[in-house]
Amino acid sequence: DLAAGAGQCRAAHRLPGIKPRRVVLARCGDGSPAQARKAVQAAWGLLKSGQPKTLLVLAGGASGAAVAAAVQALADAAYVYTATKSQAKPCSLHKVTLAVADAGAVRSAFDRGVAVAHGVELAKEWANRPGNHATPSLLAEAARRLAKQPRVSVEVLGPKDVAKLGMGAFLAVAQGSEEPLRFIVLKYQGASKSSAPVVLVGKGITFDTGGISIKPAPEMDEMKFDMGGAASVLGTFAALAELQPAINVIGLVPSCENMPDGRAVKPGDVVTSMSGQTIEVLNTDAEGRLILCDALTYAERFKPRALIDIATLTGACVIALGAVRSGLFSNHEDLAAALLDAGQAALDPTWRMPLDDDYAEGLKSNFADMGNVGGRPAGAVTAAKFLQKFVGEHRWAHLDIAGVAWKGGAAKGATGRPVPLLVQYLLDEAGRQALVPAGQERGSKTVRAPKRAKAEPRTAKR
Ligand code: BES
Ligand code: MN
Ligand code: ZN
Repeated sequence: DLAAGAGQCRAAHRLPGIKPRRVVLARCGDGSPAQARKAVQAAWGLLKSGQPKTLLVLAGGASGAAVAAAVQALADAAYVYTATKSQAKPCSLHKVTLAVADAGAVRSAFDRGVAVAHGVELAKEWANRPGNHATPSLLAEAARRLAKQPRVSVEVLGPKDVAKLGMGAFLAVAQGSEEPLRFIVLKYQGASKSSAPVVLVGKGITFDTGGISIKPAPEMDEMKFDMGGAASVLGTFAALAELQPAINVIGLVPSCENMPDGRAVKPGDVVTSMSGQTIEVLNTDAEGRLILCDALTYAERFKPRALIDIATLTGACVIALGAVRSGLFSNHEDLAAALLDAGQAALDPTWRMPLDDDYAEGLKSNFADMGNVGGRPAGAVTAAKFLQKFVGEHRWAHLDIAGVAWKGGAAKGATGRPVPLLVQYLLDEAGRQALVPAGQERGSKTVRAPKRAKAEPRTAKR
């Protein structure tokens, strides 16, 4: 009776001679990870109303990748948000057993699936929490808790430190808020000190009102998800701590609120970034790029082998790619290819977007080195071109996750993306590094430091 096609399923109750009360048969199609995921999701759809406590998945000769996909799909389905509900019921499911033909063959993929599931869960949890329960300070505390794990450490900078560093763009966004900003510096050291790290930078706007260029009221609540990039960095570190791969990773999270206020940055204000480049803040709602640009400049000190920022950056990216693929921008072919491949493998796909210099035309300003917006056409690309002005010759990629980080409508909630992609990329990268003889590692290129502007003091007030 089972119709053709992955995800088709049938349920049966109290089959004679079988101990479990409920049995679901689900078609896994060609057995690919994507179809295994589909089968698990569909089967769970039939089972969940019975609130099962335990689940036995007969996965036969499933590949490691399919096993990892099944584990992640189940963890995803079993996630329940409870943090701010007075009478929340957690998911009934507390144990899943996977039966496979050769457990040894899929063990490491299984472990990876579990670690990614934990990372996704952490990312979802922080992204789901409302702005008043996920302030920059609370994000920093979450990072501190991660740093209790082996090989993970953290440093948290406050407004004074950030002022001392000359992060005038980041400070400008934060200055309209009563909540103090935090700049979180996470380190995972899984390889020798001399091994150049991958640096991840996550946008951590804990609420984006738009500032003085205020957003319209409908759906503004969803701007609590504007720290999805930061949440994905935290989630990725949780997975790294669990898997302990041989790679060095730095996680940078500039975090603050974007609020309108008597002291808020105003349209037309010119601020000086840490790089020395001046920026005319034409639209205070284009704040993500302002906090990221200073974090990208800060990242230089780590001489990264790759610099990847992750941000719910533009509504334009939602229009371009919807909720299926993240926008991938990169100045480096190998890095772009590695991220594209990792996204495909992790079922967390991206799509390469252009970076032609012609797209930067609109960022020109009469009153500063650049404006912070480039007009409506190709808004996701002009945002990326803005960021590119702060990465010099470093191998850099920008992931615009505005469309994929959360779902709207009835199923409103964070997705935990792109944790699967980032973990996959880092594990792949650890594998590639293991193949390179010591001393021949690809280090970081030197960067032309842009000239400092003299017009304004470097250190922002407040
Ligand atoms: N956080 C938003 C981007 C966003 C919008 C994410 C909608 C998800 C859904 C970002 O800070 C923003 O407001 N961007 C502006 C930029 C514009 C002013 C150039 C946008 O996309 O409208
Ligand atoms: Mn904004
Ligand atoms: Zn934003």
